[in-house]
Amino acid sequence: MKTWQRKDLLGMKDLSAEEILFLLDSAKAFKQIGERKIKKVPTLRGKTVINLFVEPSTRTRTSFELSAIRLSADVININASASSLVKGETLKDTALNLQALNADIIVIRHSAGGAPHFLAKFLKASVINAGDGAHEHPTQALLDAFTIREKKGRIEGLNVTILGDILYSRVARSDLWMLTKLGANVTLAGPATLVPREFEKFGCRVTHDIDEAIRDADVINLLRIQHERQRKSAFPSIGEYTALYGLNKERFARIKPDAMIMHPGPINRGVEIDSDIADSDRSVILQQVTNGLAVRMAVLYLCSGGQKVES
Ligand code: CP
Repeated sequence: MKTWQRKDLLGMKDLSAEEILFLLDSAKAFKQIGERKIKKVPTLRGKTVINLFVEPSTRTRTSFELSAIRLSADVININASASSLVKGETLKDTALNLQALNADIIVIRHSAGGAPHFLAKFLKASVINAGDGAHEHPTQALLDAFTIREKKGRIEGLNVTILGDILYSRVARSDLWMLTKLGANVTLAGPATLVPREFEKFGCRVTHDIDEAIRDADVINLLRIQHERQRKSAFPSIGEYTALYGLNKERFARIKPDAMIMHPGPINRGVEIDSDIADSDRSVILQQVTNGLAVRMAVLYLCSGGQKVES
């Protein structure tokens, strides 16, 4: 693949393995920029990036903002609770108004699955999905893949276990669709109420036995319980969830010695992950956050018409 052809990044499901690898290779060059003394390049000078976050975020919003700043774009952050959305303006009208202000790229996070896809249909501006409901979180998946490649040197053939609340997780879906395309052996694990067997049709293994799920894993990606999306409790208590499915020290002692621990954040210490494990040298949680900058710089650059960058 010689050039990136898409104006929008909406999800991993629609991308080919070739496109995913192209994004990941492009991000390598941007990672080097982040390691320089002066971390800013003029690549997107004159372009306007608007972060429209209609759901809370720490990592993704800050990461997109910083990525746009490092590319010299003008960047505006819209806080939905202080916008005219609360006065009844529709998402479509809000987006059209942002485009009328000459936004070149709109980065959107929304609680409704499909919101970015809806905007992309009528906007000339590029639309980047920063997380839509329980549907997709493509840049999180890309930074996960980038981190796995950086640490393990490859993705193909690795055993990747995603453990936790799969049903309500956009990260799980984007990771699953991406990692299976890249040749990983993906296992989804957690309580039966949060990890339905239906996911097997996407080419992964489903198990409700955590010890079996983590035993041979090269990568363990933990997910928090998405309380904000669950309409009813999927298990009796947090304590029971932690006892049965949390990565505690006992279980950690039984995983492969070189297995790496990932988490998209925010982490709930002492629930899905023991606090010491989160801070251990086997955890790459904060390296994932750093790599998010490189990945998002690449996405902003390529979706605004940039061509391949040489690393
Ligand atoms: N991983 C992630 O999406 O974190 P935020 O919700 O803080 O953006």
